[in-house]
Amino acid sequence: MSRQRAMSGTIPSMETSNEALKDNTVIIVLGASGDLAKKKTYPALFGLYQRGFLPTDVHIVGYARTKMDEAEYHKRTTSYIKNPNNDEEITAKIEEFKKATTYVSGDYEKGEAFDNLNKYIEEVEKRYQGDQRHRLFYLALPPSVFIPVAANLKTHCYSKRGINRIIVEKPFGKDTDSCRTLLSSLKQHWTEDETFRIDHYLGKEMVKNLLVLRFANVALGSAWDKNSISSVQITFKEPFGTEGRGGYFDEFGMIRDVLQNHLLQVLSVLAMERPVSFSAEDIRDEKASVVSVKVLRAIPPIERADTLLGQYVAANGKPGYLDDDTVPHNSVCPTFAATTLWIHNPRWEGVPFILRAGKALNESKVEIRIQFKDVTQGIFKDIARNELVIRIQPSEAVYLKMNLKTPGLYTRAMPTELDLTYKRRFAETYIPEAYEALILDALKGDHSNFVRDDELDVAWKIFTPILHWIDGQSGPRPHPVGYPYGSRGPKELEAFIAKYGYKRADQGYAWPVTNLSNL
Ligand code: BG6
Repeated sequence: MSRQRAMSGTIPSMETSNEALKDNTVIIVLGASGDLAKKKTYPALFGLYQRGFLPTDVHIVGYARTKMDEAEYHKRTTSYIKNPNNDEEITAKIEEFKKATTYVSGDYEKGEAFDNLNKYIEEVEKRYQGDQRHRLFYLALPPSVFIPVAANLKTHCYSKRGINRIIVEKPFGKDTDSCRTLLSSLKQHWTEDETFRIDHYLGKEMVKNLLVLRFANVALGSAWDKNSISSVQITFKEPFGTEGRGGYFDEFGMIRDVLQNHLLQVLSVLAMERPVSFSAEDIRDEKASVVSVKVLRAIPPIERADTLLGQYVAANGKPGYLDDDTVPHNSVCPTFAATTLWIHNPRWEGVPFILRAGKALNESKVEIRIQFKDVTQGIFKDIARNELVIRIQPSEAVYLKMNLKTPGLYTRAMPTELDLTYKRRFAETYIPEAYEALILDALKGDHSNFVRDDELDVAWKIFTPILHWIDGQSGPRPHPVGYPYGSRGPKELEAFIAKYGYKRADQGYAWPVTNLSNL
């Protein structure tokens, strides 16, 4: 296949040297009783099953320590599948899906338990014709058992008659050194080709859209640099706190949970140079996966002065972070973080990239906001700046804030927007969940939207010094500023952003987002 194949009209599937798993495949979900499996993995597997994207006659085996019968397993794994109107067709499909998924319980550390799992998979495989037996292992596991499970799978459950692939999820360590240790342990058992490291933000429709928006539109592409752009903000907001999950969260904090992975991945797709082709390696080289290793290498470690840390406190009838029983009573773990990154390359020198993420805020929203520079003074004075906003979720949208002559008998500029709201423009189109897109990529053997090892290394280098400071490894720990549960974040945020030249739009202007609920 030509590596130079162009995109025309529809996007060709990413090219890959790996074979697509079309039949004779068992998918094994390790950690099948956990939260991630229940909320993301199984609903995504069902989404693919429902639309006929899983291999023919696929079987899904759930594996975890919890002892439970099949009925309980099915109840858990289908509880997050959406069927709000009890659609009969979907209900029937769920029943069919249940038949294709079974459960085995067992230990994560002991080899015999995995021999047992292997025997079970072999039983399942007896139904398959032909010689090949493919296995896709999905690790929805806590970091503590990650390595023993990966090792046991290789030793006891590796198919010698087909393709084996392993999907793994963050956290990939806690800093540069621990990440390197983890990666090298994993590499002892699984090759880079067999390994698919998920950052599910790379599977989100609007993140994938960035490649097309940037490189298929001359009008945008030519304004995509320091000459036109004043600042870039990538914002992640969640309207709920840790609520019982504080034990895990407190060990990691907001930067490790969201900024160092999800938001940095978005930044790299946003800032990378154009890949030579859509082949996985060309994209990963430019981004360092669809993320650019190259662009990430041009980012120095974050400075303390470019960081704002917050922790939510009780407000609006909701508990503060320290009220969560699973959190140490004196924790200084940030539940909000804003950090500014600088890219030292000719395209981006001097443009601040502000990554900000927080829990227990006033709304649920993930968006990219690119603010352009002022028009040169002269005929216009103090008019709003152009802003391109890419709303990743909820309710995908792209809108460009621009100035227009106020309609009527005036010659006055007013800010308005060119609005491409997906629910309006693509009302009938199904937008896949990130995990659906990524599991399908792994079945196809396409690494484009997965994180490469060298990319992780460079991502940790950017964040490790600031994380060690927060952890108290380089002196006293910084204290996050408090912000009320349900607020927009720390009150210091506005000044923090303004410091990088961001100009808030005319107070009279608001994107008519409120209309969305009616769509
Ligand atoms: C996970 C974080 O990686 O991403 C969670 O650990 C966060 O804390 C989640 O809630 C957000 O994912 P999404 O797809 O809901 O934006």
